[in-house]
Amino acid sequence: MEHNVRQTKHSTSRRSFLRKGFAVGGAGAIGAGLLANGLPLPAFAEERRASLTRGDVAILRFLAAAEILESDLWQQYNELGGIQDSEVPGGSGSKPYIKALLVLDGDMSQYIHDNTEDEFSHMAFINAYLASQSADPVNLDKFRTLPSSKARGAQNIGRLTNLMQLSVDTSYWTRYRSRTQNPDLGGTFAQAIPGLSAGKFPAIPRHNGDLAPANHIQAIANTAGFHFGYIEQGGSSLYPTLAQGVTNLEVLRILLSIGPTETSHFQTWHDKAGNAPALTDPTNGLVFPDLNASGGEDTQTNLIMPEPTVFLSRKFPVVSIIRPTEIAGSGGAVATIKSFTADGLFIGQSQEFFAVLNQLAAQADAARRG
Ligand SMILES: [Fe+2]
Repeated sequence: MEHNVRQTKHSTSRRSFLRKGFAVGGAGAIGAGLLANGLPLPAFAEERRASLTRGDVAILRFLAAAEILESDLWQQYNELGGIQDSEVPGGSGSKPYIKALLVLDGDMSQYIHDNTEDEFSHMAFINAYLASQSADPVNLDKFRTLPSSKARGAQNIGRLTNLMQLSVDTSYWTRYRSRTQNPDLGGTFAQAIPGLSAGKFPAIPRHNGDLAPANHIQAIANTAGFHFGYIEQGGSSLYPTLAQGVTNLEVLRILLSIGPTETSHFQTWHDKAGNAPALTDPTNGLVFPDLNASGGEDTQTNLIMPEPTVFLSRKFPVVSIIRPTEIAGSGGAVATIKSFTADGLFIGQSQEFFAVLNQLAAQADAARRG
């Protein structure tokens, strides 16, 4: 009985969506409801072939923009700290920076390379998919105006993002360790590295003068280590949050298939940041404390798997989950741009850049499953 009710609702909403003319794809995508042998397609198959709604396109376009931004910042990390090869070309590496990154893990350069390649693939795929649906892909090339690092190893090209004046929000560290709070239920979280969120610090060497003394370049590598986790936890929340507004099943599949790769990145970086050595940067006083010194779980470095916490309502038992996953709880597109802006990623960008990004974000957050 319940099944029938659901089917009726489903077909009604599908009809109304077709009638409203939300389709942006070719006409061929609609009405292809028969198999070659004349038998009707299962409802789900027909739905998958239906064109995208405006909301679906808005979500994909925002995600394309987010992936372009991620690709740009990861490219900068890879040029100086990763592996430059045919998969991720550009730059020639900075030995002192790589040496400091390797303190966090012997495989840091490989992981930086792979994360970079992943973001480029996300960007290229989503834009190609948009084009295949006759929707506009996203291109932010006109905003590639920010300067490159002057340090040996970096390309000298225009950038979309700025990795040299970051204020890294490290509250994700305590957020994923809390057993009693969830941002979707109003929770707030202490910074793991208070100094890092309070000033403006480079996550890549800005010039060759940043390559020494040892605790300065190590502080830059530590900053990168915590920034990697910050960026990828953002993607981990963004995809499941926006997925709730998707209508087309194929678009949902795209979000459900890309989103967890952001989480696999986060899990890796979450682990590596815990190996960042405690130190004080002698050039600016930035302190990386010993996160295990307190003995409390809120900063314990090996608690890299999400602690179970409250979800949906406090009446339910705690559960291990991604958090946040609600637009109102800071998981959405507008919140992501706001957070990236506070991070310092866009310092030096134009008003037009912010206007374009904020419009894409607002349209994505406004998408409703229907
Ligand atoms: Fe990505």
